Amino acid sequence: MSDTLDLSSLRGAVNDLRETGIVDVANHGWGRQGLIPLWFGEGDVPTPKFISDAAHDAMLRGETFYTDQNGIEDLRTALRGYNKRMFDVDLSDDRVTLTNSGMMAIALAMQMMIEPGDEVVVVGPVWPNIYSTIELNEGVATHATVRLTDDGWHLDMDELFAAVTERTKAIFLNSPGNPTGWIIPEEDQARLLDFARERGIWILSDEVYHTLVLDRPVAKSMLQLAEPDDKVIAINSFSKSWLMTGWRMGWMVHPEGLGPTLAKLIQISTSGVPQFIQRAGIAAIEGGDEVIADLRTRCQTGRDIVFDHLEKWPRVKAIRPNGAFYAFFAVEGMTDSVAMCKELIDRCNVGLAPGSAFGPSGEGYLRLCYASTPEKLHQAMEALKTVIGGR
Ligand SMILES: Cc1ncc(COP(=O)(O)O)c(C=O)c1O
Repeated sequence: MSDTLDLSSLRGAVNDLRETGIVDVANHGWGRQGLIPLWFGEGDVPTPKFISDAAHDAMLRGETFYTDQNGIEDLRTALRGYNKRMFDVDLSDDRVTLTNSGMMAIALAMQMMIEPGDEVVVVGPVWPNIYSTIELNEGVATHATVRLTDDGWHLDMDELFAAVTERTKAIFLNSPGNPTGWIIPEEDQARLLDFARERGIWILSDEVYHTLVLDRPVAKSMLQLAEPDDKVIAINSFSKSWLMTGWRMGWMVHPEGLGPTLAKLIQISTSGVPQFIQRAGIAAIEGGDEVIADLRTRCQTGRDIVFDHLEKWPRVKAIRPNGAFYAFFAVEGMTDSVAMCKELIDRCNVGLAPGSAFGPSGEGYLRLCYASTPEKLHQAMEALKTVIGGR
């Protein structure tokens, strides 16, 4: 890499992009012999063969051409069926758009609505990419905080509403939440929708962990309350539910009439999701219920291994979540979570994500992804205990 390249001619918002604390920590530990990586939001099981076979077969059949910008009809139909089955929601065909990942769906939504200086209220702590995407579009992220109490994570809805100003375009909500596992109560979903309708603002509802819940069959979607013309976009992904993080495929359910606008944006960014990957998506939707059930069992086991330790450690405050697959726990006396993560790599050979990466309310916490094999989790917790398990 050149040291002399002058980057000042790039857009300010691009130069201002920060490396997320997770990447900073991962760069510190990358490639270390025997390191147990629990820093990213994925498990250690590859995509099931029947899903990969569907992509492979489609490729060999020659499904290798440019494709429909909103997604092929077969997959959109499968997703409409999925929404009916999971949420009992009937969707018209023009409300579903495939994207090259959940991340891309978020990026498109922000591109579509943010003018410079517009605000998006972000319910956090949340996945760092949300903030970066707002900033790249020259928007301003404002905050409403999900707080850890003795009986779990809670969002004060009045605090959320008070964060909305004249400049607010949207509220970004991720439930079940990364990193906290918080699940928005149904009555708060209804209040949120009423409020957004009244103010004419968008709700971006990130539901990529909708299947990863332990105390109910599925997390209730905002789509179950919204009318087809409400300003609600549900963001979803194949990554988590079907073990497809590397495939880069997600989808949006949006109001009627938005499909052609999205098609234009997709045309000039990725030009659509490769058709053979969409075939894998159909296989996942149609045959993947067992994959989800297995992952949930794995998450339950993983969660309990991790929390059986955390709950005994005097410096740690942690509450077992019922959603997503992370432990997001406070460590008493820790003021620099990036430094702590680097120390944990050096001393325990375990990779965690620093709380400070997840927005202004995240410092003081660490995130551990427990969608991993029990042996690795046992080993990681024993190692972590030596540094943060005591007084
Ligand atoms: C809250 C949240 N939203 C969206 C995504 C995007 O997932 P993907 O881009 O892999 O579809 C992630 C990934 O970690 C996430 O945690």
